[in-house]
Amino acid sequence: GADIRVWPDAGELSEIDFAICWKQPEGLFSRLPGLKAVTSLGAGVDGILKDPDLPRDLPVGRLAGPRLASNMAAYVTAMTTLHWRDFPGFMKDQAARRWNQWAPEHPPVVGLMGMGEMARMTASALEALDTPVHGWNRSGKGPDTVTMHSGDRGLVEMAATVDVLVCLLPLTDQTRGIIHAGLLAAMKPGACLINTGRGEHLVEADLLSALDAGRPRRAILDVFSTEPLPESHPFWQHPRILITPHCASITLTEEAARLALESWRRVQAGKPPLGQVEPDRGY
Ligand code: GLV
Repeated sequence: GADIRVWPDAGELSEIDFAICWKQPEGLFSRLPGLKAVTSLGAGVDGILKDPDLPRDLPVGRLAGPRLASNMAAYVTAMTTLHWRDFPGFMKDQAARRWNQWAPEHPPVVGLMGMGEMARMTASALEALDTPVHGWNRSGKGPDTVTMHSGDRGLVEMAATVDVLVCLLPLTDQTRGIIHAGLLAAMKPGACLINTGRGEHLVEADLLSALDAGRPRRAILDVFSTEPLPESHPFWQHPRILITPHCASITLTEEAARLALESWRRVQAGKPPLGQVEPDRGY
């Protein structure tokens, strides 16, 4: 029963009361006077909250279903295992027809920056592999099975403890540039950084010098300050950086359609959109 318009064929703009957005064009919100709520098409709302035309009191939601979280858990578990079991090493061995039999004695210790739905699902998946999981967030609160940290000091302590440090944070003014030289220098020499948050969480130049210094040993990056990653970017050729093109967990059509409909129905009934965020907090 919904009258759905797909930008730019949006008809009379004053009739639009609910917007489902991803990378919306500049100035859009100032042209939609009838909006009752907006939702991000994905898990992150940074692209909506940073829009200068977003009305201050407009409710903002997001579409983050269980499949989005389980896909992230699968990616982080796979990449943690890739590092821990050194699959890149076996690929080199195979190319050289070298039989180099080894397996690690202990599971890696993993630290998750952020403890939202994706991090919680990731923690459960890792725990099934008997992997000790640490977590860091603002409140220091998380699942009982996760050793939680908070504060600047807590983050450095966690980075110094873990073999794999994973960024699953939302991008806010507080988390922009959070992975910088100081944090990287605290990591263990053999450790791996996985960034599946946003490119802007990482100070990219700091990572290059940190890899040269051997802390961390490897970085697995799914997100970048500029996407698509420019062809001239030094990350492409780096022997200890593995790149995936922002696909660790992306919006799934069927799941998102179901959630968008539910969110729209809620807004029509005078309720807040699904996954409403606090704009001042940024997530
Ligand atoms: C993807 O990055 C998302 O925020 O859904």
